[in-house]
Amino acid sequence: MVKINSDYTLLRSSYLFSTIAKKVKEYEQANPDANIIRLGIGDVTRPLSPTIIDSLHKAVDEMAAAETFRGYAPDLGYEFLRSAIARNDYELRGCDIAADEIFVSDGAKSDSGNIQEIFSKDCKVAVCDPVYPVYVDTNVMAGRAGTYDETSGKWSNIIYMPCTKETGFLPEIPTETPDLIYLCFPNNPSGSTMTKTRLQEWVDYAVRNKAIIIYDAAYESYISEDDVPHSIYECEGARECAIELRSFSKNAGFTGVRLGFTVIPKTLMVDGVTLHSLWARRHGTKYNGAPYIVQRAGEAVYSEEGKKEIRGLVDYYMNNAAYILNGLKKAGYEVSGGVNAPYIWLKTPKGMTSWEYFDYLLNNASVVGTPGSGFGPSGEGYFRLTAFGDADKTKEAVDRIVNM
Ligand code: MLT
Repeated sequence: MVKINSDYTLLRSSYLFSTIAKKVKEYEQANPDANIIRLGIGDVTRPLSPTIIDSLHKAVDEMAAAETFRGYAPDLGYEFLRSAIARNDYELRGCDIAADEIFVSDGAKSDSGNIQEIFSKDCKVAVCDPVYPVYVDTNVMAGRAGTYDETSGKWSNIIYMPCTKETGFLPEIPTETPDLIYLCFPNNPSGSTMTKTRLQEWVDYAVRNKAIIIYDAAYESYISEDDVPHSIYECEGARECAIELRSFSKNAGFTGVRLGFTVIPKTLMVDGVTLHSLWARRHGTKYNGAPYIVQRAGEAVYSEEGKKEIRGLVDYYMNNAAYILNGLKKAGYEVSGGVNAPYIWLKTPKGMTSWEYFDYLLNNASVVGTPGSGFGPSGEGYFRLTAFGDADKTKEAVDRIVNM
């Protein structure tokens, strides 16, 4: 008789952003005239920029002629895109990463969920708390998380590294040594960042303990401060202990286009096996490559015009971040993030829980945000607002919150 993968039954009821969408839909049905402003999910709102659109059109036209038509993409990515990434994201930042150490994919979400597959089920996983839920849920699906404790809101086999006000919303080295360490900086959800010195300490720790860091740098283009590293490979020794995940979603607005990549240096070995070879095998077996059209759009992100336009998009969102940050600060809210990241992390007022504040904000201001507790137990009493909204609507949302 067929049996299901029972690890899936252990998952908490639904994915955080699906729960929020359901609640907002219910509110919308009950209040059809409400002018809802969505600052919940970190989804971009600006259109793709002209250079990207141009390259998409050109690539579509190529698909219309037999001479230029492309079928299956190379499963690890087209050379033109991998070289552009290696040159612009790594070489120009002084990082030693070659084009053939880059695996092009349909985005950082799937890579961050799938990467655990190449590690043993026995590996001990450490995550920041609060954390992007995908890292935890995919380890639950893989049977690596143990059992869930309703009281603590924690999984028995996962090491939680609290990122609280007291720690500057940064993780500290855990007392129990992990095998896999998920780090996301600039951070989702808190918007905090690590300096290069601090990240170097983590790299040294991982090398010393033969642990692997899975470094999610999806928000690197939002970095505005000089001492914040854009890549973990800016740190010495990272080629021996780190995998990096990147996305075109947040910088170039590809959330609906889908493109990302994972970097695995060929020098990254576990038990004499290169992780590069395992991921290449996995990619080759389970994936037929990101679409040609989309990879051409990705290439255009690195053109001179593309870079300028992408800078404009990031600036647009960061103006929103500054407006939210300053507006809420002035109104007496305790807020952080929003300087090197498109997320603002605020302490819920009047001792409200994160979900209580979610309902309060929705019912009184018709503004949607994300409850901090949805990202982990240390997120309780916090709330996340995204800077990815329309500028006018973002201002209106802040004004409504301040005047509540
Ligand atoms: C978020 O809101 O945390 C992000 O949009 C999630 C994602 O990038 O998948």
